[in-house]
Amino acid sequence: MDALELLLTRESALKLENPGPREADLEVMIQSALRAPDHGRLRPWQFVVIPEGNRAAFGELLAASMARRNPAAPAEELARERGKAMRAPVIVVAAAKLAKGHKIPEIEQLLSAGAAVQNIMLAANARGFGAMWKTGAPAYDASVKQALGIAPDSEIVGFLYLGTQVGGGIQVPRPVPKDYVSVWAG
Ligand SMILES: Cc1cc2nc3c(=O)[nH]c(=O)nc-3n(C[C@H](O)[C@H](O)[C@H](O)COP(=O)(O)O)c2cc1C
Repeated sequence: MDALELLLTRESALKLENPGPREADLEVMIQSALRAPDHGRLRPWQFVVIPEGNRAAFGELLAASMARRNPAAPAEELARERGKAMRAPVIVVAAAKLAKGHKIPEIEQLLSAGAAVQNIMLAANARGFGAMWKTGAPAYDASVKQALGIAPDSEIVGFLYLGTQVGGGIQVPRPVPKDYVSVWAG
């Protein structure tokens, strides 16, 4: 696919199924992530791949996180949370490895991690896969980070759900440039 066509038509998937990206696809996606702009060559990125066989365990992490936040959560809500892990064959957890107190401000390190995530999303599309970028409360849960091997100083910036897109994408009205751009008159 032409690069501009990819950029101008990108959309999140609504439903993802098998087959998911294989190792070679994931390799390309991660390589794309590692091309993200990065002030100071801090390489503030970490990616944890949850393969299909470990989704159930990841679902348990999500449900346990919800139960900690809300000990009174009903069983159906916990089951729904657990089920989120099953909405794609492969999940990549993306984190920003923040160098605290560094002369490169943390916001710039976070931005670099965000750019890396977008590169993964676009590379997934380019390889023929659909993608969803999610976060939610588990992304900000220290126990979830710990279970995934992500340091306390790092921030989870996305749970990237990757697979074969079924049906259309999210129907989001697309804004037009004139509403977001001004030309400075000096
Ligand atoms: C950092 C970040 C976190 C997000 N987390 C969620 C989320 O938890 N749940 C959700 O429905 N959408 C989330 N989104 C939005 C979707 O990924 C998506 O961008 C949005 O639904 C619009 O669809 P589009 O990508 O086709 O424009 C998040 C987006 C970003 C950038």
